[in-house]
Amino acid sequence: MDEEKTWAIVTGASSGLGAEFATALAARGVCPVLVARRDAPMRQLAARLHQDHGVDVHVEPLDLGDPGAAADLHQRLRQKGIRPDILINNAAFGLSGRFLEQDPGRLRAMLQLDVVAATELTQVFGRDMAERGRGHILLVASLAAHQPTPLLAAYGAAKSYILAFGEALHVELGPAVKVTVLSPGLMQTEFFDVSGYAPKASLRRTMLPASQVARIGLDALFAGKPSVVAGALNAVMAFSARLMPRHTAAAMALRMAEG
Ligand SMILES: NC(=O)c1ccc[n+]([C@@H]2O[C@H](COP(=O)([O-])OP(=O)(O)OC[C@H]3O[C@@H](n4cnc5c(N)ncnc54)[C@H](OP(=O)(O)O)[C@@H]3O)[C@@H](O)[C@H]2O)c1
Repeated sequence: MDEEKTWAIVTGASSGLGAEFATALAARGVCPVLVARRDAPMRQLAARLHQDHGVDVHVEPLDLGDPGAAADLHQRLRQKGIRPDILINNAAFGLSGRFLEQDPGRLRAMLQLDVVAATELTQVFGRDMAERGRGHILLVASLAAHQPTPLLAAYGAAKSYILAFGEALHVELGPAVKVTVLSPGLMQTEFFDVSGYAPKASLRRTMLPASQVARIGLDALFAGKPSVVAGALNAVMAFSARLMPRHTAAAMALRMAEG
């Protein structure tokens, strides 16, 4: 592989926001490394991006929920001579509904992917970037990270971890390695099928296209911002949650979720 190319790992690139990150990066001349479990949609995306933007695209089918997946990916890319300058930590899924009724296996898998894999990927690729004295890491959190989220309790808390983790690393690893947290609000992706979360009509009106959210995230990342909430209305919602006691914000979130 050509060392001169700029490579960007995009996790969760087989659908939704991840596919849009890969598309937006390819349009900027960056070569994406697509990572997710489903091979076929990533191969289709890779062919399209190569044709439309002339960039090399590498597909790495991998279950990031497997323990050791981050080290495995690092090893695989090293063997192929790919040293990514950009890491987009996007892969995640949600679990909605009453916490006590959630399946313990799914809960563990969610925490392994959303928290552990994102943390380990950031460390293993962040070390390489720090050694080279440059790099960019984007962590995808959620509007749910900014307040307690009953009926999405563990998912929201996992995203609160990502928000605090990324904002801490922004200060700790910068300015050489730039770390940014993106908090999307609702987007129409496969997320709802996987999580079982069905937002009410009033909330659905706040939805932004995933392509727009990807652009907002990448603009913030390349501008060196610590954190960005996608969309003005979502930014107001995140900010207003800070103005009230957390218990009140949690109670309001439960009322909104229950309708
Ligand atoms: N959609 C929303 O309303 C919303 C709101 C706020 C934040 N977010 C966040 O946005 C990010 C992208 O989600 P999305 O909306 O684009 O959902 P999505 O369409 O369901 O995409 C999730 C991606 O993660 C991948 N993935 C899931 N489990 C994996 C595993 N074990 N190993 C590797 N890859 C795995 C999926 O691919 P495979 O199934 O092929 O593995 C898929 O490519 C997530 O971090 C999510 O929490 C979404």
